Amino acid sequence: MNPQASLPIIVSQAEIATAVKRLAAAITKDYRDKNPLLIGVLKGSFVFLADLMRQLDFPLEVDFIRLSSYGSGTQTSGKVKVVQELKLDIKNRHIVVVEDIIDTGVTIAFLLDYLKKKNPASLKLCALTDKPARHRVTVKIDYKGITVPDKFLVGYGLDCDEKYRNLPDIRALED
Ligand code: IMP
Ligand code: MG
Repeated sequence: MNPQASLPIIVSQAEIATAVKRLAAAITKDYRDKNPLLIGVLKGSFVFLADLMRQLDFPLEVDFIRLSSYGSGTQTSGKVKVVQELKLDIKNRHIVVVEDIIDTGVTIAFLLDYLKKKNPASLKLCALTDKPARHRVTVKIDYKGITVPDKFLVGYGLDCDEKYRNLPDIRALED
């Protein structure tokens, strides 16, 4: 058996699928006629974005940005920078930022501020998971999936030192 499969499940595949459907329904209601641009925050959000976008049956576009927030390990450095820039121009576009997890909120607060300066027509945030116990800055999550406990989580795109992204459930690395 895959040793990774012994880690405790925090959010199951079924719960993830239910949350993705709910978020997709809310986004559909707001963006059906707006040709939105979904911006995935690499690397963690790519699994969520792939599932979410396939529940959206209207015209949209996708781009990615990569930020450095954590170094290796499980602690944030508190410093954020863009390490891979967007390929598309977001001026006058309706933007939905798609993020895997809001932990301290430092990364996403930086990103929203960074994108706002590029003058999008609108800017909203969709996050699959949120760890409110860890917030250090106030972040408005417009489309929020699942509240998770203050544990370091892996799976469904979330990694620890680049491992575990392939797990279909979200699991805790330690108890
Ligand atoms: P924040 O700036 O502290 O909110 O951290 C945001 C980023 O750190 C997320 O986009 C994730 O990539 C990563 N991160 C935060 N918490 C976890 C976790 O529990 N597991 C894996 N990655 C995490
Ligand atoms: Mg991330």
